[in-house]
Amino acid sequence: MQVLTAQLLLASSLAQATVAWHEQIPLGGVPEILPVVDKALSYRDDLVSLHKSLVDIQSISFDESEVGQFLVDYLTERDFVVYKQFLPTSNKTASGPSEDDKARFNVVAWPGSRGPRPFPKVLVTSHIDTVPPFIPYLRSDHGRAINGETVIAGRGSVDAKASVAAQIIAVFELLEAEEIEREDDVMLLFVVGEERSGDGMRVFSDAVARRDPPLELRAAIFGEPTEGKLACGHKGFFDCEITVHGKAGHSGYPWLGKSANEVLMRALTKVLDTDLGSSEEYGNTTVNVGLLQGGVAPNVIPEKATSKIAGRVAIGPQDGGSQIVVDRLIDVLKSVDEEGIEYQCYTGYGVVKCECDVDGFETAVMNYGTDVANFRGTHTKYLYGPGSILVAHGPDEALKLKDMEDAVEGYKKLILHALGN
Ligand SMILES: *[C@@H]1O[C@H](CO)[C@@H](O)[C@H](O)[C@H]1NC(C)=O
Ligand SMILES: *[C@@H]1O[C@H](CO)[C@@H](O)[C@H](O)[C@H]1NC(C)=O
Repeated sequence: MQVLTAQLLLASSLAQATVAWHEQIPLGGVPEILPVVDKALSYRDDLVSLHKSLVDIQSISFDESEVGQFLVDYLTERDFVVYKQFLPTSNKTASGPSEDDKARFNVVAWPGSRGPRPFPKVLVTSHIDTVPPFIPYLRSDHGRAINGETVIAGRGSVDAKASVAAQIIAVFELLEAEEIEREDDVMLLFVVGEERSGDGMRVFSDAVARRDPPLELRAAIFGEPTEGKLACGHKGFFDCEITVHGKAGHSGYPWLGKSANEVLMRALTKVLDTDLGSSEEYGNTTVNVGLLQGGVAPNVIPEKATSKIAGRVAIGPQDGGSQIVVDRLIDVLKSVDEEGIEYQCYTGYGVVKCECDVDGFETAVMNYGTDVANFRGTHTKYLYGPGSILVAHGPDEALKLKDMEDAVEGYKKLILHALGN
């Protein structure tokens, strides 16, 4: 991980006295009149406040530096060794990346004082960017006592800042309980760009691949909203841009021209009606016709029509499954019009399998893409996190506090499982 070692930012030389972050702060309000009786976990207030800080900071993809800097400071104060892993597109000076606030970086951290060459066994990771637009943090308790039923809303409150907060608190808890044998057994990684291209995770993956001696990671635990279920995997992905070339003419004489719109509609309908690949575990490959454009006027036979489509691939393998699907799609297009249809496809990847055979977890498969595919290697992959993907990119993104607290427990269990404890 040369990139990392070259960019030591803040070493644990700050060696502060252990912060009593786990200390329970009274919830305020008399216990007898709490509206819902639930067991307030010792870390509740730290979890809520960390999550609030993360959601309060706007971090739409490509603008993640402020939230990244928050995490650098937060973890450094708590005796973690913290590195900024800059993305190569940011400006660099002769001595390394510039301190330009807009430079984009992943946050890499591990507990303790083992210096710049950690040998983690388990990577605990999620992403710090969100989709637009920014939606401010809002909590349903309105100053009354917080409890497990408290609903927390805001952009990123689920995807994926709930995972980030729960992962950090889980690691704190395990360290506090001395359940992690060697401090640097666990590494935290919070990447940028997951919602767009996965560039943050790819930079990390490339750095790991180059490291000598190699990083012998046993497992990576990815935090994304899975409703607290352990994902057995998720669908693959591809997208295509389709262009149809027709022949313009007067709309009264359609037989003298060739309608690009008509060809495109027939082709897309046939694509949607075709089984492009299905499996018992992942269901059907689905295609979203996201963009359609064609023609110039109602009374002119359209000469050109275009569409952008995105597919969710239900068959494997990870390397190659989506190629099978794209080949079938191209056959369908050609069966409609051998010559007039052009296409450009990003082949993507087939289904991504994750390990889900762990006691105490419900399991599920996910229909969305993640960074799991962007981190290459032989490590075991786990995908797990609080909140539902069904609200994640919408205006009502929110989750209950108890789901985030359950996820702290879930991450603790997964980390220990992955460490082989
Ligand atoms: C890089 O530096 C150039 C020139 O100083 C500046 O215009 C540009 O905005 C910088 N880019 C980033 C990503 O900081
Ligand atoms: C998959 O598609 C077939 C039709 O091709 C349909 O009958 C079936 O219900 C679909 N399965 C799922 C899980 O959506």
